[in-house]
Amino acid sequence: MKVLVVGHGAREHAIVAALSRSPQEPRIFAYMATPNPGIVRLAEDWSEGPLADIVALAGYARRIKPDLIVFGPETPLAAGAVDVLEEKGFPCVGPRRALARIEADKAFMREFMTRYIGRGYPRWWTFSDLRALEDHLRSHPASVLKPIGLTGGKGVRVLGRQLSDLEEALDYARSFIERDGKILVEERLEGEEFSLMVFTDGKRCLPMPLVQDYKYAHEGDTGPMTGGMGSFSCTDHLLPFLSPTDFEIALGIVEETVVKLRKATGVPYRGILYGQFIRSHEGPKVIEFNVRFGDPEAMNVLAVLVSDPVDVFASIAAGNLVSEVEFAREATVCKYLVPRGYPEAPEVGRSFTLPLEELEAAGIEVYFASVREEDGRYLTTSSRSVALLSRGPTPAEAKARLESILEKTCPPELYYRRDIPRLDPIA
Ligand code: GLY
Repeated sequence: MKVLVVGHGAREHAIVAALSRSPQEPRIFAYMATPNPGIVRLAEDWSEGPLADIVALAGYARRIKPDLIVFGPETPLAAGAVDVLEEKGFPCVGPRRALARIEADKAFMREFMTRYIGRGYPRWWTFSDLRALEDHLRSHPASVLKPIGLTGGKGVRVLGRQLSDLEEALDYARSFIERDGKILVEERLEGEEFSLMVFTDGKRCLPMPLVQDYKYAHEGDTGPMTGGMGSFSCTDHLLPFLSPTDFEIALGIVEETVVKLRKATGVPYRGILYGQFIRSHEGPKVIEFNVRFGDPEAMNVLAVLVSDPVDVFASIAAGNLVSEVEFAREATVCKYLVPRGYPEAPEVGRSFTLPLEELEAAGIEVYFASVREEDGRYLTTSSRSVALLSRGPTPAEAKARLESILEKTCPPELYYRRDIPRLDPIA
């Protein structure tokens, strides 16, 4: 069995690591925009090319003839890679372009939810005219601005937080109206956020353990938004602030979304669907949908995946999802180490080392994100460098184990958030 994984981050390193644990011993190949040292070590062969370059990706696929292609990031999905590769006969784990709009076009996402789901979303508006937006923001100061198109997870801005005043909000909106033609504005919801990811063949959904992701750069949820600084999951696969009913409501929304997306587009959704929710005082509401594993959430769930990922992925691509997916009853904590100054002024090209054997001996899993490797040392880029994952019988124990090793081993060129996860009311 040959499996081609597309993408080069820690999420894709986690996918490759999970595949490499399969008893079927698949032959692993990778298509990456930049070589990931962890994937390079585990893959039989890899090719370098832009993620949205479908011609280059299809050319590599024709050369290696994979039995299965697993997509990590949203960029090739939004560009229509699955449409092209499925037509060439390659089974794919990832949705076609028309479905990937649920992440790539936030106005489509809200129109779809309003028309087909009818619940579980905030009040929303789109604006292409700055004067109309200004009037709206004056009368709705509790607003969130969201670019319509992809921003690598860093586009959301809250008025009064990352956007300090109306002038800054209008400047921000102007750049995205120029890029996308309009901007999405939503009412600001308060509550705990959570990530619910499912495996789906377009008919049924199998949920993964719930994860909470921390997006702010600095402790106390301050500073700019990032792609995610860390995440955790619990032994019971729920989260301490969510009731089983909240989980059922959120899962019901995701399941209905899968079914109704087929109705809206005529195409079955085969891949990972990730609902990012907030537990508002009115119950769970969708902040956004993503058409892939979350990053860092992929590390939390794949670390405890007991079922054979080859079987799970192959069943998705075949449109005949396995009947169940098993996850170990362990808590996980993941933390990203990022370059000093990240995300606004990252110190790029700083050389650092990691005591990989010491980390492994302490039971810590290492997933490389965006680093270059040179002579046994790693160089920072402008993105997150490496994700470390710890498990335990409770999130508190997994966190303590990770903290104690990080205090000794975190390279001075990198930083991480000590307060992930927030465990105050959590056992
Ligand atoms: N953890 C946020 C994301 O993957 O978009």
